[in-house]
Amino acid sequence: MGNESAIGIHDLSFATTEFVLPHTVLAEHNGTDVGKYHKGIGQRSMSVAAADEDIVTMGAAAAAPIIERHGSDGIRTVIFATESSIDQAKSAGIYVHSLLGLPSATRVVELKQACYGGTAALQFAIGLVRRDPTQRVLVVASDVSTYELDSPGEATQGAAAVAMLVGTDPALVRIEEPSGVFTADVMDFWRPNYRDAALVDGQESIGAYLLAVEGSWKDYTEQGGRALDEFAAFCYHQPFTKMAYKAHRHLLNHCGHGVDEDRVARDLGLTTEYNNVIGNSYTASVYLALAALLDQADDLTGRAVGFLSYGSGSVAEFFAGTVVPGYREHLRTEAHREAIDRRKPVGHARYRALHEHSFPADGGDHRTPAESTGPFRLAGLHGHKRIYEAR
Ligand code: HMG
Repeated sequence: MGNESAIGIHDLSFATTEFVLPHTVLAEHNGTDVGKYHKGIGQRSMSVAAADEDIVTMGAAAAAPIIERHGSDGIRTVIFATESSIDQAKSAGIYVHSLLGLPSATRVVELKQACYGGTAALQFAIGLVRRDPTQRVLVVASDVSTYELDSPGEATQGAAAVAMLVGTDPALVRIEEPSGVFTADVMDFWRPNYRDAALVDGQESIGAYLLAVEGSWKDYTEQGGRALDEFAAFCYHQPFTKMAYKAHRHLLNHCGHGVDEDRVARDLGLTTEYNNVIGNSYTASVYLALAALLDQADDLTGRAVGFLSYGSGSVAEFFAGTVVPGYREHLRTEAHREAIDRRKPVGHARYRALHEHSFPADGGDHRTPAESTGPFRLAGLHGHKRIYEAR
């Protein structure tokens, strides 16, 4: 598929939060039938950040095992993708670079376009590696998704970070050309700088996502991409896991395939297993879908996987990856399960308090309670500066 020099994902690792809120607890509080959450939107629980966790602590925790395994040789660029940025100027990636002890001969940048930012980072990383094949790029996609309490979006919150090492001769997935891309100026979901919680028009956002699926697929086929039947599985952006099903059915219909539910289950089933207990992790979501697929599928060697990345506003990209022989020896399945299973359930009152937690705007000295037990924590604020600690 026009990809002479194999470039792609050499390693992939994710981290999530200290706490988890089961949807049964939310349903009990709201008086909602839990079937709406479990079946209607396809979510069972959501990751909840402790007061001393954020996109930096999760991003560093996701990337640390990659640096442990491969060292930092050859990493000359760190691209940090997020839409829950902690600073308007400084890249969150610089804190991660510092916490991981990466060399000063590195460029670090933060990227934003809603949930699409992780894919922008991956594609830009591939461009950098193509220019200098000796280089490896560390991509970190990290987000905490926050909606208003008691709003329809609340049940789709979540938080996680995915780190990917991008380079030549990748051990996991070779990313192919072409890509199909699509942009439309829509106000389906956005977060003005003065707000912590996103604003969203739920039904419009679903329609905008489906339009972007059509648009990016159209461009993908016009660019000479694979036929639909060639794919073993599809990793969609999953704001809630039911959205992947809506999107895939839409694509099948659009391509005149009709909707065979066995086929839909086969194409998507394994990809939702992490997102349905983590919730929307925005930029990380589509790569959590990939992690779930690789960790659980029998053997995907040589098979093509389709990726549909969507970011509200909106930008989408459809592209393909081929799973590399021997990939199973490089997976982190046990660590991924542990990251999910180690989370401590919180009650509704505690969850609400964490949701409302923020630093005082005066930027004065502020210590955060030591709640998290991960490798990195946000110790507090001093003179408007965030202070991070490694354990
Ligand atoms: P809502 O309006 O409360 O829910 O919020 P609903 O009434 O539409 O119900 C949802 C589904 O549950 C429906 O199924 C109901 O029938 C079903 P559907 O018609 O969709 O197939 N249902 C039940 N099923 C079983 N048992 C029951 C039951 N009751 C109802 N008892 C909404 C839903 C998604 C709108 C809301 O959660 C929301 O606003 N979420 C945030 C926005 C969002 O996630 N949009 C997705 C597309 S945009 C995107 O992906 C980008 C994003 O990630 C941001 C970024 O790019 O940065 C969000």
